[in-house]
Formats: sequence, C-alpha cells, structure tokens
Amino acid sequence: MIVGCSNSQKLARKIAKQLKTEFSELIIKHFPDGETYLRFKTSVKNKEVVLVQTLQPKPNDALIELIFAAKTAKELGAKKIILVAPYMAYLRQDKRFHSGECVSNKIISELLSCADQVITIDPHLHRIKKLSEIFKTKTTALSANKTIAEYIQKNHSKAIIVGPDEESYQWAETIAEQIKSHAVILRKKRYSSRTVRIKVKQNIEWKGKTIVIVDDIISTGHTVIEPIKQLQKYGVKKIVCICVHGLFAEDALLQLKKLGIEIISTNTIQNPVAKIDVSRMIAEGLRKSK
Ligand code: R5P
Repeated sequence: MIVGCSNSQKLARKIAKQLKTEFSELIIKHFPDGETYLRFKTSVKNKEVVLVQTLQPKPNDALIELIFAAKTAKELGAKKIILVAPYMAYLRQDKRFHSGECVSNKIISELLSCADQVITIDPHLHRIKKLSEIFKTKTTALSANKTIAEYIQKNHSKAIIVGPDEESYQWAETIAEQIKSHAVILRKKRYSSRTVRIKVKQNIEWKGKTIVIVDDIISTGHTVIEPIKQLQKYGVKKIVCICVHGLFAEDALLQLKKLGIEIISTNTIQNPVAKIDVSRMIAEGLRKSK
C-alpha cells in the first residue's frame, strides 16, 4: 500500500498508479498549539506499507510526520515499512563546521532508521560516501541522472553541460556522457548561506552555445545565479538551469526567472517548475527492492 504523506500526495498517487497498487492518504492535522495529529485512513495490518514523504517544504514538520507514521504503522501490525523520501533533508550538515554545532545528518538518519528501508533520490553526499555510513537500516539511493539526461537529449541535445561547483560533477559528468556532450565543472567558494563566489572559465567558446547548468539542489539560487550572470556576458544563445531538488528558498524562483533563463526541476519536491517526473523511477526502485 502506497501512503501519500502531506508533502507528497501527488507523487505518491503517481507511484501507486505505476505499480497498480492500493493508495491511501494519511489524515494529518495540527493541534492549535502546533503539534501534529496523524491517523491512517486504511488498515495497514499485514501490509507492506510505503510512506512517501519528501522532506521539503517544512522539513521539521515533514520529519515528525514521517516518524509518527512509520512507528504507528509498525504498532498497527504492518509487515514491512519502506520510507520513500525523494528529497532527504539535513544531509548537507555532515560535519561540525564550528565547535558546538549539531551534525544533523547523523541524527536524522538514526531517527529514520525506525523503518525497514529508506529510499531516496540523489542524496547530497559529500563527506560521507554512502548512506549506509549513517543509516542503521537498509538504504537505496536512486539517481535522476538518466531521467534528466533524457529530458536534455529531447529538448537541448547540443548543449554544453555546466556543473556550478566541484561536487556537481556527479550529475554534470554523467549527464554529459549520456547526451554525448561534455561537462565543464566550475569552482565555488561559499562564504555563507547566501554568499558564494564562482568564476566561469574564459578559455571556452561560450558564444552562441546553449548551456545547461545542472546541480542536485537549488536552495537560495546563488550557486547558479553567479555563473548565469557571467555566462550571459559571454553571449551564450540560451541558458537552461536544471536541478534534481528544487527547494527554491525564499524568493529564489523569482530571482532566477528575472534572469530570463529556463528553469526546470524534477518533482521530488512540488514546485511550479517541476516538469521532470520521477514517479516511474521510484516505482522501478520499489519493484527491484522486493
Ligand atoms: C551544495 O554543494 C549543493 O550541491 C548546491 O550547490 C547548493 O545546495 C545550492 O545552494 P544555493 O542554491 O543556496 O546556492
């Protein structure tokens, strides 16, 4: 049974349709003091229950809901509980950058390990290499690279792929290889959540070219805004910006649209530019994990 939690109702329905399996909503309410109320609409007894909940927006509420749902399903006799969190929150906090800080990726992964399996898409892995280093349950990390590459192949087949920082090679190089183009990886220096410096390489013939910038996450948008502004000065024909997880914090989407570029994300998080559908790949992942 596929259960759609509050952030991922639409995606969960699509997954259930792909798998031709039972779908159920979760009843979620908030008490006047802000606490979460949760109730399963359909019996979970003896069923394999797949809880679909992406961890954006409102990551903290979304996490509580997911943990409540997983633990309640277990208490109510579910045979197996699989959490599908297409966007896994808190993974960027993978180090104590300053003394006294909370290394939240470890704490969150321990909490979510209350399920029998966790499936996610393109988790932000930097200082840790595998989810199994921090989770205490079975994990599966799917990648949207193939789905994104198919989109680019269909719509911008001659594009140069640009990765805005060193970590983005995982997406940029794989996607470039698939569409038989090449990837240019830039270097980023981050000063704060909202301040980054990126220098676009000048020794490349940008003029008249279609550029597709790819990254895993767009949050404030600054990581892509910096190179977009510079590339526009080099007379490129078109800039398309594609991410797996479109968080678009604050007014990021508005700022990006103002630059006159095309902006697209997958639907791991619901947003107005989520045009690349990941439901089929999640359904495939669930089939394989049987
Ligand atoms: C970090 O390295 C990620 O891959 C993204 O580049 C980053 O999270 C984007 O953040 P923002 O949109 O706030 O610059």
